[in-house]
Amino acid sequence: MCGIVGFVGKRGASPVLIEGLSKLEYRGYDSAGVAILDGDKLNVTKCKGRLANLEEKLKESPLVGSVGIGHTRWATHGEPSDLNSHPHTNEDGTISVVHNGIIENYIHIREWLISKGYKFVSETDTEVIPHLVDYYYNGDLIDAVMKAAAKMEGSYAIGVVCSKEPDKVVAVRKDSPLIVGLGKGENFIASDIPAILNHTRDIYLLNDNEFVVLTEQGVKLLTAEGDEIKRDIYHVTWNADAAEKGGFEHFMIKEIHEQPKAIKDTMTSRIMPGKPVTLDDITITKEQIANIDKIYIVACGTAYHAGVVGKYAIEKLARIPVEVDIASEFRYRDPIINERTLMIVVSQSGETADTLAALREAKAHGARVIAVTNVVGSSVSREADDILYTWAGPEIAVASTKAYVTQLIAMYIIALFFAENKNSVNSEEIEKIKAAMLELPEKAEEVLKHKEVLQKFASKTYMHKDMFFLGRGLDYAVAMEGSLKVKEISYIHSEAYAGGELKHGPIALIEKGTVVIALATQLGLFDKMVSNVKEVKTRGANVLGIAYEGHTEIEKTVDAALYIPRTHDILAPVISVIPLQLASYYMAVQKGCDVDKPRNLAKSVTVE
Ligand code: M6R
Repeated sequence: MCGIVGFVGKRGASPVLIEGLSKLEYRGYDSAGVAILDGDKLNVTKCKGRLANLEEKLKESPLVGSVGIGHTRWATHGEPSDLNSHPHTNEDGTISVVHNGIIENYIHIREWLISKGYKFVSETDTEVIPHLVDYYYNGDLIDAVMKAAAKMEGSYAIGVVCSKEPDKVVAVRKDSPLIVGLGKGENFIASDIPAILNHTRDIYLLNDNEFVVLTEQGVKLLTAEGDEIKRDIYHVTWNADAAEKGGFEHFMIKEIHEQPKAIKDTMTSRIMPGKPVTLDDITITKEQIANIDKIYIVACGTAYHAGVVGKYAIEKLARIPVEVDIASEFRYRDPIINERTLMIVVSQSGETADTLAALREAKAHGARVIAVTNVVGSSVSREADDILYTWAGPEIAVASTKAYVTQLIAMYIIALFFAENKNSVNSEEIEKIKAAMLELPEKAEEVLKHKEVLQKFASKTYMHKDMFFLGRGLDYAVAMEGSLKVKEISYIHSEAYAGGELKHGPIALIEKGTVVIALATQLGLFDKMVSNVKEVKTRGANVLGIAYEGHTEIEKTVDAALYIPRTHDILAPVISVIPLQLASYYMAVQKGCDVDKPRNLAKSVTVE
C-alpha cells in the first residue's frame, strides 16, 4: 500500500524523502511524488511508475528546500497516472497532501466542495483533502487539518505542508500506519520504521486520531481536541542492515535464509526443556483458558495459512474447537461471538485493514483477543488483549516467508501453552514436541542446502501455466501456502488440494505434463497420499514429491523426490514449506519476474 515520508530539518529534503521512499518500495506502489517547501514556495514533482522515474525528474529539475513530504501510491481510486499521483494540492498550490488509506465519504465531500466552487483535477479520493484543508484554513494549519479530519470517514495517514507555514509538516493517522522519527534538529514522519532508520532510532508510535506538528525544533502530539499528548519514546533496537539485502540478489531469498534464526528467535525464552511455556505479553489466566469454548483464528493470505496449521495444533493439543476465518469474510458473516470466545489474529504487519476490523468486531462482542504479529507497536498489537510477537525481524519482500514460519512457531507455542494449562496432553508428549521444536532451526538450515533439486525443478517448470499442490492433513495446509507463493511471485496459476478431494473434480484437469508438487510428510497419511500421487501419475502428471528422509519408497511413484529432515509430524510445516518457497523463488527468477515487488501486490494491505 502507499508509503509516506515527511521531513523537517536543515538539510535538503529531497534526498531524505527519496531515500525514505526507497525503503518503503516493498509496500507496493505504481507512482511516486514529493512536495518540498522552498521558503514560501511549494513545489511538487510526481509521476507514474517507479521511484527511479521520479529521481530522474528531480535530477533534471532539482527541488530545493528542507521541509517536505513524499509518497509512493498504490492505486485504489483512479488508475496509476501522473495526475492521480500524490502529493495533491489545493487550487492555488499553497497546500499539499500525501495520504495512505481511503476516504470513504469522498464523493459526498467532493460534491460539497464543488458546490462551494472548488475544482478537481484527479480521480482520487485524496484530492478532497487539500481542498478541505484550504476551506478551513484561517492562518493555522493544524486547526485546518483537524477540522478537515473531523469531516472525513474512512482510513487515513496524512502528511500536509503549507507554504504559508513553511517551517512545519502536519500529520494525522486513523486506521493507517504512521510513525514519527525524532532526530537532532530534524524530525520525520513515515509509514514504517525502515524509512527513517538511517537517521534516527527514536520514534513515537501514533495512535488513531492523533495529530502531529513537526518542526525543526521538535514534535508536538495532539488529540483531536487539541490537548498535548505525552508519549514515551520507542527505541528501535534492530539494525538498518536487517532491512537491506546483505549480498543476496533479492530480499525474498535473504529472508528465506533468515528462517533458521527467525524460528530460534521466536522460541527464545518461551520454549525451554522441562519448563512451562513462558509468555511475557500474554496475561490470560488458567481459569480464563478453561472458560474458552471456541477459538477463531482470523487472518489474511499467508497469515491465514499459518492459522490453518494453528487450528490443527490447538485442536490436537489443547482440545478446544477452532475455526479459521479469512478476515475479510469474518466481519460480514455475523459469527457467533461471546465472552467465552477467544480470537487469535495473525498478521505480520499488524496493520491489515480486514484483520484489524475482525479484531474490533470480536472485541465489540466481548471476546478476548490474542494478536500474533511481527511489528512492535502495530495497530493489532495495541488493540489486542494479549500479544505474541513473532521475532522474524523486518520482512521486506512482499511474499511472506520468514514471517510465515515464525507464525507457525507462534501457533505451536499457543497450542502448548493452552495444553499445559488445561492438562490436555501428557507431559512426556509436551516435552517431546518442545525438544523437536528446539531442533527446528538446525533442520531448516539443512533444507536450505537442497537448492539444486529445486533449481532444476524450477528450470523445467517455470514456463508452465498451471500447477497443483497436493497434501493431506498438515501437508494440505502447507500446500495452500506453496500455491500462494507460486501465484504471487511466479504468476503461475496454481491450485492447492487436499489429496482426498482430487477425485471430486480437480482430477479432470490433470493431463500429460501437468506439474504437481505432492507433500507426503504426515506418517499416518503417507500411504493414502501415495495413492493420490499414483492417481495423478497415471494421468500423465509430472510430480515432485516431498517426504521425510528415509521414505525413499516415494521414488517409485514420483518423477523427482526431495527429502526433508524428520521432525515431529505436527511441526513438519515449518520444514516442508521451505522447498516450496525456494521452488517459487527460482521459478520467478527464471521467468524474470520482479520477485520482491510482484505486480499488483502490496506488502501491507491497509485498505479494505
Ligand atoms: O501483514 P499481514 O500478515 O496481515 O498480511 C496478510 C497478507 O496480506 C499477506 O500474508 C499476503 O498474503 C502475502 N503477500 C503473502 O505472501
